[in-house]
Amino acid sequence: MESLSKLRSTITQFWPPRPAFTEADVSKGSQAGRVFMVTGGNAGVGYELCKILFGTGATVYMATRSEKRAEVAIKSIKASYAEPDSMTGQLKFLYLDLSDLVSVRDAARRFAREENRLDVLWNNAGIGPNAVEDGVRTTQDLELFMGVHCVGALLLAELLLAELLLPQLRAATTPDLPSRVVWLTSILVDTSGPRDGIDFALLETGVRDQTTNYAASKAGAWMLGREFGRRHTPEGILSVVMNPGNLDAGSFKGTPRFAMFMMRMLWLQKPVFEAYTELFAGLSPEVTRDTYERYIFPWGRLVPDSSVVRQDVLKAAESEELGGLGSGKKLWEWCEVKWKLAE
Ligand SMILES: NC(=O)c1ccc[n+]([C@@H]2O[C@H](COP(=O)([O-])OP(=O)(O)OC[C@H]3O[C@@H](n4cnc5c(N)ncnc54)[C@H](OP(=O)(O)O)[C@@H]3O)[C@@H](O)[C@H]2O)c1
Repeated sequence: MESLSKLRSTITQFWPPRPAFTEADVSKGSQAGRVFMVTGGNAGVGYELCKILFGTGATVYMATRSEKRAEVAIKSIKASYAEPDSMTGQLKFLYLDLSDLVSVRDAARRFAREENRLDVLWNNAGIGPNAVEDGVRTTQDLELFMGVHCVGALLLAELLLAELLLPQLRAATTPDLPSRVVWLTSILVDTSGPRDGIDFALLETGVRDQTTNYAASKAGAWMLGREFGRRHTPEGILSVVMNPGNLDAGSFKGTPRFAMFMMRMLWLQKPVFEAYTELFAGLSPEVTRDTYERYIFPWGRLVPDSSVVRQDVLKAAESEELGGLGSGKKLWEWCEVKWKLAE
C-alpha cells in the first residue's frame, strides 16, 4: 500500500496535470503597488516568472550576480510585451551573489533603502548538480550548494524580514495580504538525498558526488522553509515550500547529451511550467496561514506533507518534541554560525 502511494507520488511529480494557476489568473495591473523579489531572475525559470510578474503591474526585483545578464533579460522581457512603456510594472536589477555572504548583507541593505515593503520573495536562484567543477566553494569557504541554497538564501530572507517585513507589519494600520517567502526543493531530494535528507557530519565538506550535495542542500531548503514557517507564520509571514518539477533550463547545465535527449523525450518541460508552480506558491489565494505545513507539487498543487515520497526527510525535519530529529532547527542554527563569517 505504502509503495503504491510512493509510486503515485513520484509519477505525479514527473508527469503533472495541467497548471491550474497561470498568467490568466493574475490579470494586467492586478498586483500594482506590490513589490516582489526573484533571486536568479535573469535566466531559466526565474526569467519566466519575472516575465509574468512584470505584466501584473508590480515592481519586480531581479536579484542576481551579473548586471549585464540582468540588463539583457530585462530588455528581452520588455520586448515580449506589445506596449511595455505603457505598463505600470517595473523591472529592476539588484546585485546579489548568494555564494558571498557579504554580498547578501549588502543586497538586503540596498533593497531596504529603496523600498518600504516586500510582498513576495522567491528563493529561486540555484545551481544544478553538474553545472560547476568539483571543489568549488563559496567565498566564506562553505560547500557550494549548502552555501548558496541554504546559508545565503536564509540570510537574505532573515535580513529582509528584520529590515522590512516586521517593521512594515508593525506600521500597518489596515491589514494587508501577508508577505510570502518561497523555497524551492527538487525531486532529487527523493531520488538522491542522503538518509534523513542531510548528513550533519558532512555539512562542512560535502561528498565527492555533486548530485548528493545538491540533493542535501535542497532537503535543507525544505527544512529551512518549514522552520521559517514555524517561526514566522505567527508574525503574519507565510513560508511556502515547493517542488518546481523538471524543466529544460540551466539546472541541467553539464548533463551529458544523451541523458538530456532522453530526459527531453520523457519528462522535461518548458521553464514556464515551473514558473507557474512558483506563481502559485507566491500568489495563489489557496495558500494561506492554514496551509503552511503543506507542500506544493508541480505545476501548482497543494498536497499534504505526508504525500511526499521521503518520509525519513519529513521525520528529520520535524521538531524533537514531536518525535523528529529537529534537523530544521539544527540546520538553521548552523547557518547562523556561518553568517558570522561575514559580519
Ligand atoms: N530546472 C529544473 O528542472 C529544476 C528542478 C528542480 C529544482 N530546480 C530549481 O529551480 C531553480 C531555478 O532553476 P533553473 O533550472 O531555472 O536554473 P538556471 O536556468 O540555471 O537559473 C539559475 C539562476 O540562478 C542564478 N544564480 C546561480 N548562482 C547564483 C548566486 N550565487 N547568486 C545569485 N544568483 C545565482 C543564475 O544566475 P547566473 O546567470 O549568474 O548563473 C540564474 O539566474 C533552482 O533553484 C533549481 O535548483 C530546477
